[in-house]
Order: sequence, then structure tokens, then C-alpha cells
Amino acid sequence: MFPRHVLRDALRIPAAEVTDETVYRQRRRLLTALVGTPALALSACSRAEPPAPPKVAITPAQAKSGFRTDEELTRYQDVTSYNNFYEFGTGKNDPSRAPRTLRTSPWTVTVGGECAKPGKISLEDLLKGLKPEERIYRMRCVEGWSMVIPWLGVPLADVLKKFEPTSKAKYVAFTSLADPKQMPEVRYRSINWPYREGLRIDEAMHPLTILATGLYGKALPQQNGAPLRLVVPWKYGFKGIKSIIEINFVETMPETAWHDLQPSEYGFFSNVNPNVDHPRWSQKTERRIAGKTGNLFAERIPTRIFNGYAPQVASLYTGLDLKKWF
Ligand code: MTE
Repeated sequence: MFPRHVLRDALRIPAAEVTDETVYRQRRRLLTALVGTPALALSACSRAEPPAPPKVAITPAQAKSGFRTDEELTRYQDVTSYNNFYEFGTGKNDPSRAPRTLRTSPWTVTVGGECAKPGKISLEDLLKGLKPEERIYRMRCVEGWSMVIPWLGVPLADVLKKFEPTSKAKYVAFTSLADPKQMPEVRYRSINWPYREGLRIDEAMHPLTILATGLYGKALPQQNGAPLRLVVPWKYGFKGIKSIIEINFVETMPETAWHDLQPSEYGFFSNVNPNVDHPRWSQKTERRIAGKTGNLFAERIPTRIFNGYAPQVASLYTGLDLKKWF
């Protein structure tokens, strides 16, 4: 997200050396100054709650029309070597080059909060009765590149329903593993660990939202978020939290890792939207990393609202000011 040299120079301080909150706050202010974001631009709505979502029903046919695309696939070697996974380094190639230190088996996920059946559950039990299916999704990164990826996954809704969320469950909060023994870069505070993400409950229950366990017909490689990560194709890529160990049903909008770091740049919704620029760059176009050469210098193509998934998801946002709730 941030230019690598900025992170490396300004933030590469072992967390152990950060002795008090003042130091941490000062560093946050330094980062804000470095990226040229006026302090006043910090989101005024970060604490407020958006209006309640409209009640919409998505028909199975509507949903299904988003499950595949005929667009050219991004090569396996590009999907698995051009990554963002800060627990394994801030460079795009760092995660694929990192030693295979993540222990993905056994893997336990803790599910709690506003639900009738909270508990700690093994990955096998979490997915019991659900068969991972292939979904070919366009993925648009907030940094301006995109990929087309054949994921293997299960609908998140099918997993969440097992825990019987109550009527108070307005949002779902996700947390990644943050173990410095398995994830070397967690020793550095490039992000306020653990990595956290969230969805509104209707977004989480939407048929396009999946928990992915694989891609290209194989288990997820470490760098892509093994053994379990979120995939939400109408939102910027950073919503796709990797190596999930905790899921919580909550009543109010949960804090997320990137919003926590830079509230003016990363909103909660993070819907792909060419009409709402990132404070430091336009979101109108993207470079598609696809095809035989995986061309990083491909012509830019227009970015579409909701990443082209408007027929499936636009109704979730009727009446919501997408500029305010970016
Ligand atoms: N999840 C964790 N735990 N840590 C991260 O650094 N990076 C996010 C997201 N999930 C990230 C994460 C960002 S910024 C992006 S763009 C996507 O993962 C990248 O997913 P990919 O590497 O599989 O393309």
C-alpha cells in the first residue's frame, strides 16, 4: 500500500522497541505527514454508523451470473508471486519467497460474538458438509492492478449460518493469525497487528462472498493466505483477509487494519468505485495482470463500479452515499 521505502525507513522498528503509546502515535503522525494527508482529512465518519441496509433479496440466477467470467485468467505464477501479505514482508515478491514457516494444520478458527453457537472449531469441522466450488472472479487491488483468479471456496454464508447469528449481528469481524514465530514480519509494526477486516452482515451473507481454500484447483499457497481467506470480488483486494483464525459477529462497525492505520485512505466499505479516488491517486483505471506474459505494463482499462458486479450487489447499497461511505 505505502511506498516500500516509506515503510522500510519510517516504520521498520521492531515492535519490541516501541515502549509507549506516545512513540507509536508520533510515528503514526510522521507517516501521515510523509504521505501528505492533511490531518483534517481523517475520516469524520469513522465512529458514526451508516444507515441500515435495505432489505434486498438476490435471486439465485442473479447471484450465479457473477460466479464466472470469460476474461483471460491471470497466470498461476503471477497470482502466487505478486502478493500483498505484510506478515511475510512489504514487497510484492516477499511473501512468495518467504520460508514456508506457516503451520496450516491443525488450524483452528474461533467463532463468537452475537450468535447462538459460539465455539472453537477445527478447519475440517468449519467446512464440514460443504464442498469447495470454483469461482472465477475479477479482483481489483486498491493500488491499481487487477487479476482474474479461479478460486476454490465455499460460500461464507453457509459457514456463518452454522453458528446461528442473532438479530444483533449487524457486522462480521475477521482476524488473521499474527504469530511472529510463523510470520517473521509481525515483529515490525508496518500494520497494527493482527490484520483485521470486516463486512456488513448482508455483504458477508451475499452469495458472491466466499471463504477460499484454494486456487487453480490446488490448496492455497502460504503467500495467498493459507489455509483460509476471504474473497469479496466487488471490494478492493485488501478486504480479502488471509489466514483467518477468528470470526466475530458484532453489533457495531468493527475496526479494520488499514482503516486503523490511515482512516482517510481506507474506508470500511472499500467497494471498488472509479468515481471515488484514493486520496493519493485515481481509481478510474486499472492494469490487468493477465495473459501469457502476465504483463505488468499492460494498457490501463476502465475500472467498473463494484468491479463489474453491480448487477449482483448494487442493490445492497441503495440509499447509501458511496462518497461518504467509501
Ligand atoms: N491479509 C493479511 N492477513 N495480511 C495482509 O497483508 N493484504 C491484503 C489482503 N489480505 C493482507 C491480507 C491486501 S492489501 C491484498 S491486495 C490482498 O490480500 C492480496 O491478496 P493476494 O496476494 O492473494 O492477491
